[in-house]
Amino acid sequence: MALLEGRTAAITGSAQGIGYSIAQALAAERANIVIADINEDAAKEAAAGLGIGERAIGVGANVAEGADIDNLIGATTEAFGSLDVFVNNAGITRDATMRKMTEDMFDAVIGVHLRGTWLGTRAASQAMRAQDSGGSIINISSISGKVGLLGQTNYSAAKAGIVGLTKAAAKEVGFADVRVNSVMPGLIRTPMTESMREDIKEARLKEIALGRMGESAEIAQAVLFLASDMSSYITGAVIEVTGGRHM
Ligand code: NAI
Repeated sequence: MALLEGRTAAITGSAQGIGYSIAQALAAERANIVIADINEDAAKEAAAGLGIGERAIGVGANVAEGADIDNLIGATTEAFGSLDVFVNNAGITRDATMRKMTEDMFDAVIGVHLRGTWLGTRAASQAMRAQDSGGSIINISSISGKVGLLGQTNYSAAKAGIVGLTKAAAKEVGFADVRVNSVMPGLIRTPMTESMREDIKEARLKEIALGRMGESAEIAQAVLFLASDMSSYITGAVIEVTGGRHM
């Protein structure tokens, strides 16, 4: 039987990039899919693009807004009757050295990543507890949160915060068989990294044991593992998917 037969997964920021690859991987294991994105049209288009008909819907949601998250959970349970997997993936960058970083740039990144992941984890775990059938929440962090990257004081802080949030939440909701884990990607080929300066990319590649960038699908496989019963005794964990970078 498929790993996620009859289960429902909602993924934030999944109209493109890593989020869309996660949607594809979970859909291939027969999950119902909710593509949530701040860009509603793109979310609906991406849901149709999965090619699984009524097993996928697209919903517009800004993860930094509690009301949007509540609406997303409501739309999910209305369409499919349950919420079993929730992936906090939506993300932005506003890179600059501290000398040039404005308060708005700091707040925007903390708002989407840290506040958004907290809102998503809180709402999803409450929905899962109410269903009384457990669930899996997966939060996408970044190697930037482990080592700190130049020009990313906002992003590194948010991504490190996601690790602490994941562990604290795992302790709170474990009794209800709701598992909360994090995936920490390294340098992955997506629209987010396309615009990276070539010299910076070259320098980062030298730090990677496998000597190449990762693919979105390789992050999706780790998420699939954490979403499924293959990881039934894993919670509060951080899985690094970095090709061996900063081990
Ligand atoms: P991306 O830029 O390709 O896709 C991000 C998606 O999130 C877009 O569809 C965008 O519309 C959506 N989004 C942005 N703000 C949103 C909001 N407030 N509410 C809802 N949706 C919103 O990015 P990518 O590369 O796919 O990144 C996905 C996640 O992986 C992010 O959390 C990112 O920080 C993380 N990550 C990415 C790495 C990489 O090398 N690409 C490395 C480490 C972590």
